[in-house]
Amino acid sequence: MKAKVSKVPGPKSKRILEELKKKNGGWCMPLPFVHSGEGKGCYFKDIDGNLFLDFASQIATNPLGYNHPDMVRTVRDHAKRFPVKYAGQDFTVPEHIEMIDELLKISPGNAAFLINSGAEAVENALKSAMHARPGGVYGVSFEMAFHGRTLGALSCTNSKLVHKTRFWSFPMHRLPFDEAAPVVLDEIIRREGGAENCSFVIVEPVQGEGGYHIAPKLMMRGIRKITRERGIPLIVDEVQSGLGRTGKWWAHEHFGITPDLMTAGKALQVGATIGQRKWFPKEPSSISSTWGGGSTIDLAMGIQTIRTIKKEKLLARCKRMGKYLVKQLVGLCGEHPEAYGARGLGLMCAFDMPTKESRDHLVEHLMHNGLVTLGAGHNSIRLIPPYIVGKEEIDEAVAIIKKSLADIHKERARKGPSFAEHAI
Ligand SMILES: Cc1ncc(COP(=O)(O)O)c(C=O)c1O
Repeated sequence: MKAKVSKVPGPKSKRILEELKKKNGGWCMPLPFVHSGEGKGCYFKDIDGNLFLDFASQIATNPLGYNHPDMVRTVRDHAKRFPVKYAGQDFTVPEHIEMIDELLKISPGNAAFLINSGAEAVENALKSAMHARPGGVYGVSFEMAFHGRTLGALSCTNSKLVHKTRFWSFPMHRLPFDEAAPVVLDEIIRREGGAENCSFVIVEPVQGEGGYHIAPKLMMRGIRKITRERGIPLIVDEVQSGLGRTGKWWAHEHFGITPDLMTAGKALQVGATIGQRKWFPKEPSSISSTWGGGSTIDLAMGIQTIRTIKKEKLLARCKRMGKYLVKQLVGLCGEHPEAYGARGLGLMCAFDMPTKESRDHLVEHLMHNGLVTLGAGHNSIRLIPPYIVGKEEIDEAVAIIKKSLADIHKERARKGPSFAEHAI
């Protein structure tokens, strides 16, 4: 299979997107094509018949690619059984405990709380930590962190101004995402009158929305040491980096640390707060929600995702293919000096462009040439294909990036550099 794109947006997509633009509350600007539901492996078709190679994986939520036979079978089997959507904290279904069991086999901890989304997994980790630390008056997160958009999670988020502007926040301190973080944390704890005043520290082992930056080992270990010694709960947010993408079940395993509480979402199809039972509130309903746990189909898909990752040995594949992809990206950056900073942990890969404008321009060119990617941070492009990706698809993606950079080069030679490029 090879990507084949004629016009984006095609006429059918354009009509739907125009309607959406008029009626959607909170305009989020989806990419300019509409999914048809057809696709196989790393490729999907839009409703205009364009065939795209997907290196965005629905923002890391589609780890097994399109129409994986295990997923098709799982959805078919569960669609026959009602209720599909259940009120998961007050009424239960077998899939709920099955999901918890599957998660606990691969996670640090002996309890998991299921919820609808990544942000809610973060909210409930924060609430559990606060509940366990009644003297706490502030939390600690990192510069450029992203933990979600609900107000508690948003208080910890610090990646883009647009996420934060006009929204209230609860008291937070920020740490630099580098080796200095432990020293800064130590100083904050001292200045704030002792460890008992700190409710939690929350960190992404690989920053996602903030630009695909891998935490330094010294930073992660230093933060873990201080929080453990002072009894402060360390929350590791694995919503984007978790469930195998980095070549281990959870990215924090690369650093040899164990969190007190951990969050999962995206690839899991539901949100989950995971940890030792002692960190969760004991009072019934202290943390809860109507739909917690998603639908039985969401749960069954998440359970099957874990089983298929094991069956097809996809952790090893993520590691192998990630190394191959980064090697190709390093080569590409050598040939095209405007692209730089190739990096990755497993299949959580990225490179940088000189400015936000040149990054956005390249993402658009890639899409018109058949490769779907996403920006991250100020000027990074993230490459997060499904875990089933092979060398052939990686070669095709890298060839599309090279062609797009060459197209942009020609375009620039014709028109002269853009204002943003002048400004570098
Ligand atoms: C690290 C991290 N935490 C939390 C979230 C929020 O997840 P959701 O969008 O499912 O609420 C995200 C989403 O991108 C994320 O990357």
